[in-house]
Formats: sequence, C-alpha cells, structure tokens
Amino acid sequence: MRRLLLSLASLLVASVVFGQKFEQLARTPPMGWNSWNHFGCNINEQIVREVAQAMVRSGMRDAGYEYVIIDDCWQGERDSLGFIQPDPERFPSGMKALADYIHSLGLKFGIYSDAGDRTCAGRPGSRGHEYQDALTYARWGVDYLKYDWCHTENLNPIGAYTTMRDALYAAGRPVVFSICEWGTNEPWKWGRTIGHLWRTTGDITNCWDCIIDHGTWKSWGILQILDKQDGLRIYAGPGHWNDPDMLEVGNGMRVSEDRAHFSMWAMLAAPLIAGNDIRHMSEATREILTNREVIAVDQDTLGIQGFPYRREAGVEIWFRPLAGGDWAMAILNRTETPRTVTFNFREEYIFDDFSKRGTFFDRITYRLRDLWAHRDIGTTETPLTVEVPGHDVVMLRLIAPKP
Ligand code: GLA
Repeated sequence: MRRLLLSLASLLVASVVFGQKFEQLARTPPMGWNSWNHFGCNINEQIVREVAQAMVRSGMRDAGYEYVIIDDCWQGERDSLGFIQPDPERFPSGMKALADYIHSLGLKFGIYSDAGDRTCAGRPGSRGHEYQDALTYARWGVDYLKYDWCHTENLNPIGAYTTMRDALYAAGRPVVFSICEWGTNEPWKWGRTIGHLWRTTGDITNCWDCIIDHGTWKSWGILQILDKQDGLRIYAGPGHWNDPDMLEVGNGMRVSEDRAHFSMWAMLAAPLIAGNDIRHMSEATREILTNREVIAVDQDTLGIQGFPYRREAGVEIWFRPLAGGDWAMAILNRTETPRTVTFNFREEYIFDDFSKRGTFFDRITYRLRDLWAHRDIGTTETPLTVEVPGHDVVMLRLIAPKP
C-alpha cells in the first residue's frame, strides 16, 4: 500500500513538473489572424505591425480576435550556440520588439515552427532544438505556437509533439499549442493532452468546391474540408479543438461563399483564424469577420460541435447545441441554384447522443433569430420557409425561453 502511495505521489509530482500542456487556455476556440493564407512567405515586421493595427481599427479585436500569428518564413539562421534568429532582413527589429508592440495593442503574439529539421518552406525547424526554441519563444513573449509536420522522416508524431509540449511547459510561459500534422496520424485520438487544437486536414484553399493537386500534396476547398470533419466532433471540447484550417474569408471567393464558410466554421466550433489582408479588406469582408452573433455561436462555452441533421440533394441542415438551452441551426446550400427550404420544427425529433441534448420542439417553443439579417423571424411553432441562394447559408439561433 505504501509503495502504491509513493508511486502515485511521484506520478503526481512528475505530471506537475513535466508531462502536461497548459490547461485553462483555449477554453473556447482560439481567434486571431495568421499570415499564411494571404501572404505566404512574403511576410515582414512592417506588415505584421500594420495587421495588428488593423485588427484594432476594424473592430476585430473587440469582436474577440486575439492572436497575431506569423506563419512560416520568419526564421533566419541559428547562432553558434544553436539559438534561432529571425530573418534579419524581414524582421530587423527582432521578435521581442514585435511581440511587445502586439501586446501593447492588447493582442497576443503567435509564431510557427516545425517538428522536422526544416519547415515546409525550408527554414530551420525545431527538431533537436525543442527546449532551446521554447525558451527563446518564452523570452520573446510568444503566446501561441503552430507546429508543423514537414521533413519529419522517422519521427513519431506523438513523441515529437509531446517533446515540444513539454519544452513549452518547462519554459514556463503559457502558450497555446497548435498541432499541424494535417490529420495524417489522426491527432484527434491523441492530441487532447498534448495540444489545444489540431489540424484535421491538409491545407485549405480559397475555393468553394475544388481540390488542387500540387504533385506531392493537395489543397482543399471549403466543401471538401467540411466533409472531412465527419465523425470528429466527439473529440473536441473546451481546451482541445478540431482545426479545419484557417479562414479564407476575404481571399477572393464570393461574399456568399465567405459567409457560408464562416458560418460552417462557427457550427464546427472551429478556431477562427483570419487569413486575409485585414489592412485592406472590403466592408463586406469586415462584416463577415466581425459578425458577433455568429462569433457567439463559435465561441459558445458548452464547446460542443454541430452536426449535419439532414443532407438532401446539396442542401444540408446542421444543428449545434449551445449553452443555456439554445441551438444554432445552419441551412447550407452547396449547389449553384437557389433553393427553397421548408422545415417544420414540430415534426422533427432532434436528439444528440453525444451531448445528450434534444430540441424537444413538441414542448419547447424557441424564438428564431436570423444571425446574418440580425433580426427575429418568428418561432418554432410554425414551419419555417426560407430561400437559400446558391453557395450560401441561412444561419439561425434558436433561443429557448429563459426561466
Ligand atoms: C503547411 C501548413 C500550412 C502552412 C505552410 C507553411 O503546408 O499546413 O498551414 O503553415 O505549411 O509552409
């Protein structure tokens, strides 16, 4: 018995010192901006500063966007002791100064590295330097790390991501840890104790319905990424999220496609990481990204992902249980043709086995709030008929009577 108690106690000590991620971070899906989708490798400190300013000016910060994340290509060489340096031409003032500036605006600072010896763009990766890099990030004031999976031959993914998790924890500065191995090794099955979010797919691209073949890899349109989320909702929850990749809102798709993309990411409780040039976005793009009623669905504290309830000839009806007995509902038109959809709440029995929540339309009447028109449109007592334009969505909040 004594031996058992002793080993339990040492296990406890070990798990306090090592072997854990920073808990209490990302209790709702992280929100922010990342440089990759729009800028790719063409990034520098001036752009990042201007983006941070735009985050404040546009109202994005006040709508909940928090992390300003520099993706690949910020890295220069390692110094003679192996410490990573930023690219001196792109980031001449250094990362500490940039982090300080971002923090001074009430925002947080994110960075990118890779579990292999090189990043996807061929810059130095963290392999063999994990503790050193984590220490460097802590000194700079990094709050978020996206950790990629290129050039990882013979690496075990659980081991590699655990090493970086432990390195971050040992460095002592709370960091949201974003696992980016594209879903290759089913990170939803092991990521929960290691990171705060994990990519579920390969890279997104700014297209509604397409697959782009780059030879050794493919990138995926909005519908393709959406379909790849099937079956994954049981793995997500507060502090550990499925990540269907960063937003393409404002990167060239139609406004309706951007709206539908944003809505579906909110139904999925996805991280909302804008990927456009927010310094010069259109008013339509700004309105999508700062739609607080949709963001409130994404950030709902219950942290349960939505699910497709009905899929019929290119029209999908999704539901998502929310805190306080409310539900979110999205009617997605995947097709090019406008569709008239009628939904007779009273005759639908919706029960989510995962969250053990039901709508009980036969005995609960919900108020219907249109989250894009920003108006109330009736109740669940009468059937709803809506017209959903092609490649668009109607998104509602079903508001339960409050006692
Ligand atoms: C991978 C990731 C992308 C991006 C690039 C950078 O493709 O999945 O999100 O970080 O690398 O090179």
